[in-house]
Amino acid sequence: MVNHVTKAVIPAAGLGTRFLPATKAMPKEMLPVVDKPAIQYVVEEAVDAGLHDVLMVTGRNKNALENHFDRNAELEETLIKKGDTDRLEKVNYSTALADLHYVRQGDPKGLGHAVLRAKMHVGREPFAVLLGDDIIDARDELLSKMLDVQNRYNTTVVALMEVPPESIHLYGAAAVEETGEEDVVRITGLVEKPKREDAPSNYAIIGRYILRPEVFDVLERTEPGRGGEIQLTDALESMAQAPDWTGGVYGVVFRGRRYDTGDRLDYIKAIVQLAADREDLGPELRPWLREFADGLADEPEEIVEEMPAEPAEPLESVADTTR
Ligand code: G1P
Repeated sequence: MVNHVTKAVIPAAGLGTRFLPATKAMPKEMLPVVDKPAIQYVVEEAVDAGLHDVLMVTGRNKNALENHFDRNAELEETLIKKGDTDRLEKVNYSTALADLHYVRQGDPKGLGHAVLRAKMHVGREPFAVLLGDDIIDARDELLSKMLDVQNRYNTTVVALMEVPPESIHLYGAAAVEETGEEDVVRITGLVEKPKREDAPSNYAIIGRYILRPEVFDVLERTEPGRGGEIQLTDALESMAQAPDWTGGVYGVVFRGRRYDTGDRLDYIKAIVQLAADREDLGPELRPWLREFADGLADEPEEIVEEMPAEPAEPLESVADTTR
């Protein structure tokens, strides 16, 4: 069995319902975070950790994803003619970033099912899984540390982060034991999105995993769990309970900067945080933000309605006026 991890799997078949209508015709992974689509940060993170072979598990409507990591000859030509080498470099960067492969999920039956779709591509090797909703700041080490732990313990490794107890129901939660090594724990149990009172701890799984290939055998036997979906957390729980043949499950506790782009409010916060630290945008954005924050009243004077529930006028008359 090859023990050296070379492959990363990125599940990207979600419907992005929380961002509708923006995601009606565009995958949520393509939503821009400052000026790059969210998915590019995740591919860059994999590549930075030495994982150049990237498999995306996609669904319908995912052409934009493939196009983003492919050449765009027309755009390249236009930029060359203009002599805009800066932008040309940015455009070409995502094309050459990684060796990308795609597989379709078909029926979206949950994260565990998406990971199982990677079985053929991955083979009998340990591999990484990176979820696109979580962006890990490139300045903070996580994946390379997980790879090191995986290599030394020859086990399955998940990334954990301490979250406030009132948020644990949004994550997979882990029961842990110390190993004697700082921020490396042995996982004794896992539960997907527990109620606050049932959570074994406030250690939440954040979307980074290094999985041993036995996970495929376990996933094949994993029954639908929470939400009727095949849950990766449930498969990992089985692996934690059967360390003899699965190698057990370890956790690396992350204390760095993580940006959650999976929900609208956190997505906005992520953009502001990342832009404020950028050398091209930060110097102007930071003072503006300070001024803006100072001027914020407790309640806005004028509320912008989210969206009219019904068209303001009957559709026919709207059509009449626009014709
Ligand atoms: C998934 C996993 C969950 C994990 C989370 C991290 O949930 O099922 O265990 O804590 O990702 O972001 P999702 O956020 O896709 O509902």
